[in-house]
Amino acid sequence: MKPLYILGSGTMAGALGCGLKDNYEVFIVGRNAKKLAEFKQKGFQTLLYDEFKAENKDIILAFKPYALDEVAQRLTGKARVIISVLANKDFKDLQAAFKAQNFVLAMPNTAAFYKASTTPFVCENENYKDEILAILQAFGKAFELENARLMSAAMAISGCAPAFLAVVAESIANGGVYEGLKRELSLSLTQSLFESFTKLLEHEHPAIIKEKICSPGGVTIKGVKILEDNAVRSAFYQAISTSATR
Ligand SMILES: NC(=O)c1ccc[n+]([C@@H]2O[C@H](COP(=O)([O-])OP(=O)(O)OC[C@H]3O[C@@H](n4cnc5c(N)ncnc54)[C@H](OP(=O)(O)O)[C@@H]3O)[C@@H](O)[C@H]2O)c1
Repeated sequence: MKPLYILGSGTMAGALGCGLKDNYEVFIVGRNAKKLAEFKQKGFQTLLYDEFKAENKDIILAFKPYALDEVAQRLTGKARVIISVLANKDFKDLQAAFKAQNFVLAMPNTAAFYKASTTPFVCENENYKDEILAILQAFGKAFELENARLMSAAMAISGCAPAFLAVVAESIANGGVYEGLKRELSLSLTQSLFESFTKLLEHEHPAIIKEKICSPGGVTIKGVKILEDNAVRSAFYQAISTSATR
């Protein structure tokens, strides 16, 4: 298996590592020996920054964005490919900090853990494009953007909206409890609802799904009106726009 180096040992590094480890020999590179020991127990290879040389390596940056310069100072050599999942860091930031034959901006989500990430990406050039796509597709679906300016909006959907949907899921499950369902049953119904909805969304536009469920004068359209009265649609527009703002 080809080696792949993930810099960072937090939530996203763990999710990407788990998604990738069936297809790549994953090395977790970090600064904290205790955290690296936990990754080792899970079957990953690990390295401290001082032990890592970037020369000709394929690397994923998955540490906090503010640590970019600090981490860059610890690395030597020109990498083959650097894939950055750092929020709000653009090609200029990466080029100023690192040397690589191709830089990639990518914005996965933590469903990478289950190989189910939604990952928009944009490459600096065409070098190793097929191999880059294979890496991104190993942990879910990858969507190439026309240019880097679109990344903020795409990131708001792929990276931030899972948290918005978590609020929706929690609210629906709580609503069931409010109406007398046992907590566990209400949550199980909600989990299954999301599975059902995913299947429907694969085949139809959301507006059509809604129209098909709302019978005239029925209970569903009454519930939809409550959501419209409470400006839920507008709240989602604003949430996406706010999250897409640097
Ligand atoms: N979580 C998401 O849903 C998500 C989605 C898309 C993109 N991202 C991006 O993924 C990256 C990591 O996020 P996360 O959620 O995994 O955060 P996290 O769980 O808090 O992990 C942050 C990692 O950054 C490392 N770090 C922090 N300061 C550092 C420094 N000064 N020098 C070296 N390493 C440092 C931490 O090292 P220690 O372990 O040693 O403290 C840790 O491994 C971020 O850039 C974020 O924008 C996250």
